[in-house]
Amino acid sequence: GSGKFFVGGNWKCNGTKDSISKLITDLNSSTLESDVDVVVAPPFVYIDQVKNSLSDRIEIAAQNSWTGKGGAFTGEISVEQLKDIGCKWVVLGHSERRHIIGENDQFIGKKAAYALSEGLGVIACIGELLEEREAGKTSDVCFQQLKAYAGKFTRAHKHTHTYFLSPFPDAVPSWDKIVVAYEPVWAIGTGKVATPEQAQEVHVAIRDWLSKNVSAEVASKTRIIYGGSVNGSNCAELAKQEDIDGFLVGGASLKGPEFATIINSVT
Ligand code: G3H
Repeated sequence: GSGKFFVGGNWKCNGTKDSISKLITDLNSSTLESDVDVVVAPPFVYIDQVKNSLSDRIEIAAQNSWTGKGGAFTGEISVEQLKDIGCKWVVLGHSERRHIIGENDQFIGKKAAYALSEGLGVIACIGELLEEREAGKTSDVCFQQLKAYAGKFTRAHKHTHTYFLSPFPDAVPSWDKIVVAYEPVWAIGTGKVATPEQAQEVHVAIRDWLSKNVSAEVASKTRIIYGGSVNGSNCAELAKQEDIDGFLVGGASLKGPEFATIINSVT
């Protein structure tokens, strides 16, 4: 794979003060391979608790952020506020936000560009529905979603550059803090993990798209992680694939010892 192995734990809308306190105790006492970037994404209301008790070895991501500076946006959380409480990352474009809450490419791209412009890392999620896979549209869907991020990254940086060398001319500098998470929707929370071959095939296609549409350098450096029913038993086989640079874990990240097993599956 490319770059340092990256494992994110997306807690989604789960946990209580007590269950999170137990999870933190378990994470703090586990031995984690040093050559892995580890990030957890707690619900907003528990971020401060996590920040105050979790080992600094693990960075914190938010599960959402607003498209711009804070202000009169009831119910939203700004990137500035996330940085203020110690978040380094934000998960954007997750399938649950796309398909349950109804966020579209345009809105997600705007959030991602703003977060990046403020120095927050972005875990940029993409992935196809089962019907799209069955219709042979997996790559089309993933490329369309990638393009929405890339197009917005371009605009976010346009004011600082005046040259036009690629279809996304100013995208290169802002890709440093992006991790692409490929999560086939049919594999999320279903126990139906993609096979290592299925995941590898899409990761190669994503890297190839980055190479053709952004740059060869971005393609080779960007971490492409897999998500969807990753657990302590299937992580090792997936981690062996050349283009799988880590994982975005949901359910299994709520169990400290199992999450540690997944982190330590780095090859
Ligand atoms: O963000 C994480 C993914 O949605 C995967 O969730 O591991 O529970 O299938 P899962």
